[in-house]
Amino acid sequence: PFPIYDQLRQSTPVRYDENRSCWDIFRYEDVHRILKDPATFSSRRGMDIKRRETILTMDPPRHNQMRGVVNKAFTPKVINDLAPHITSITNELLNTVEGHGEMDIVSDLAVPLPVIVIAELLGVPPEDRQLFKDWSDILVKGPDENTEEAFNQVVAEKEQASEELSAYFARIVDQRRTEPKDDLISQLLSAEIEGQKLNDEEVIAFSVLLLAAGNETTTNLITNTIRRLTEDQALQQQLKGNPDLIPGFIEEVLRFYPPIQAIGRVATRDVEIGGMMIKTGDQVISWVASANRDETKFKNPESFVVDRKPNPHLAFGFGIHFCLGAPLARLEGKIALRTILERLNEIQYLTGSELSYIQSPFVYGVKQYPITFQ
Ligand code: HEM
Repeated sequence: PFPIYDQLRQSTPVRYDENRSCWDIFRYEDVHRILKDPATFSSRRGMDIKRRETILTMDPPRHNQMRGVVNKAFTPKVINDLAPHITSITNELLNTVEGHGEMDIVSDLAVPLPVIVIAELLGVPPEDRQLFKDWSDILVKGPDENTEEAFNQVVAEKEQASEELSAYFARIVDQRRTEPKDDLISQLLSAEIEGQKLNDEEVIAFSVLLLAAGNETTTNLITNTIRRLTEDQALQQQLKGNPDLIPGFIEEVLRFYPPIQAIGRVATRDVEIGGMMIKTGDQVISWVASANRDETKFKNPESFVVDRKPNPHLAFGFGIHFCLGAPLARLEGKIALRTILERLNEIQYLTGSELSYIQSPFVYGVKQYPITFQ
């Protein structure tokens, strides 16, 4: 998709799409400005009654209050303390494929790792993990084919899984109210906003959001990272010899192959962007994937520069909605890559297999990524 963004950034940096009834924004500067201004560009988009409200679709002042509560659960210290545990989960997953000489990065590592980490963080008991993973899988599933029927079926399945998952979390919330444990759900239940506790609905909605926002994105980050590793064998050797390059490498993967391609907002007033008049109530789609390759912001944007500095990519968004899980996603990405580099040699994409992309305009990732190794 990336060459198309380059063309659009040149030809129609701000354009109205009649078919989709929304604005598309392709330049870094404009995307940045939109994300920085929540008063003009609201996050309360596409709210349907079925979906509960979460921080992702809240505006200030409510957003600040809720975000303040959940920030406490995601401090750098809390996240960094998870490192040894994430490393051991990664090693366990790799143990099952070691010696086979072949694995699918997606299903053997990139899908289960974030699911297990989130499940444990929330306090899902180990015996429920499979149940939990099945629901998460459905939540992130794309249609098998590019047809309306397949699409509708997936939507229906997702709605059901989301209902079941909410019911499941409702039970856990109930249990933790009477008997708190050392987990995120108990922590959220004891939090207060202006002297008032969060209600069950809010805690459940937030828990479901973590799965929906955190799992598929991190899966794609891990897969895109390993993909990059196989696309450049010299770079693979370089990273193996110098693991200090890993954090910068992950940032460049995020810029180059952002798991979320675009972020939606709704205009709250008439506003001009790039010489175009956006009207109150219009939908505005900011194409992060295009902004990340904007030549006015990044030198040689089409080159993958392992130690690019600075690297102000927008893969995690910007401003008040900046990804809550960014430290966790980065940590999982780094640990997955480091462990793979330590344990596997001569990592290569399995020749003959065809890349099959996830069918969504907003998500960048592949459905399988089979590799061979020594
Ligand atoms: C918000 C991307 C991983 C939880 C966002 C936003 C982006 C994003 C672009 C901003 C959305 C907006 O402005 O409307 C990503 C990417 C990830 C990732 C690329 C992986 C590489 C995670 C993880 C979690 C998470 C692991 C949780 C465990 C959230 C939440 C928000 C959010 C709760 C809403 C924050 C708010 O509205 O204040 N993410 N995310 N994300 N992300 Fe992530």
